[in-house]
Amino acid sequence: MTNKLKYFIGNWKMFGDFKDFKIVNKINQFSYSPRYRSKKKKIILCVPNVLLDNFNKKIGYNHISLGAQNCHHYHGSGPFTGSVNASMLKSSGAEYIILGHSENRSEGESYSIIKKKIISSLDKKFIVIFCIGESLADKRAKKTYSVLREQINGSLDKKFDVNKIIIAYEPVWSIGTNKIPKTHELIKTVKFIKKEYKKIFKTKIDPKVLYGGSVNNKNIGLFSQIDELDGFLIGSASQSSKKFIDIVKNYYK
Ligand code: PGA
Repeated sequence: MTNKLKYFIGNWKMFGDFKDFKIVNKINQFSYSPRYRSKKKKIILCVPNVLLDNFNKKIGYNHISLGAQNCHHYHGSGPFTGSVNASMLKSSGAEYIILGHSENRSEGESYSIIKKKIISSLDKKFIVIFCIGESLADKRAKKTYSVLREQINGSLDKKFDVNKIIIAYEPVWSIGTNKIPKTHELIKTVKFIKKEYKKIFKTKIDPKVLYGGSVNNKNIGLFSQIDELDGFLIGSASQSSKKFIDIVKNYYK
């Protein structure tokens, strides 16, 4: 295992209430516990918008960061009932933002809409967690690489600041299914994503690429052996402080 910075990002999805601050609090304390404070890690919890401001104020001295899970593509105010823009989320305490999650793509989010969301979020000084991943049908049709290439090309632009974008590779078939890619396939895919990204940005700097989809405290041991991965996007297991903390602990075992 290398000594590179590793990301552990929780995606609460549509989960949580004000009382669930205790989960955030426990993870925050764990992050700074004597045994783990020296680990080169970054913990981020992406919670529902309505909890951001409250959690941000309560957390006090924070060793972790908060993130949002989506935003409207329009940067200003406007007639978009029920929506929030990147600026509103920033002022609620979010520093990171998940964009392009397959659960939003499946609701009709297009490449160009995601691109506008990225532009708007970067403009507000967010670090963007940009999700890509193939469906089961894509995988069966052996289209994984072409789909990933299309998703990257469709929403990223070489004008973007490469240091402000983290890619989360989340095969759609692995989200919430307890199915994970085979290690050798995952390594190949992550290498492909890094190569493709460097081509677009014409950079020699390796982008950060996370894996997401059914990560738990048991399979994290397998993932910890993959040096190419810069961390994890963790869904349901991040809704429990114990499960989330066990993932981090087992990663460093
Ligand atoms: P999961 O979700 O860990 O519950 O599979 C991951 C995600 O959707 O980000």
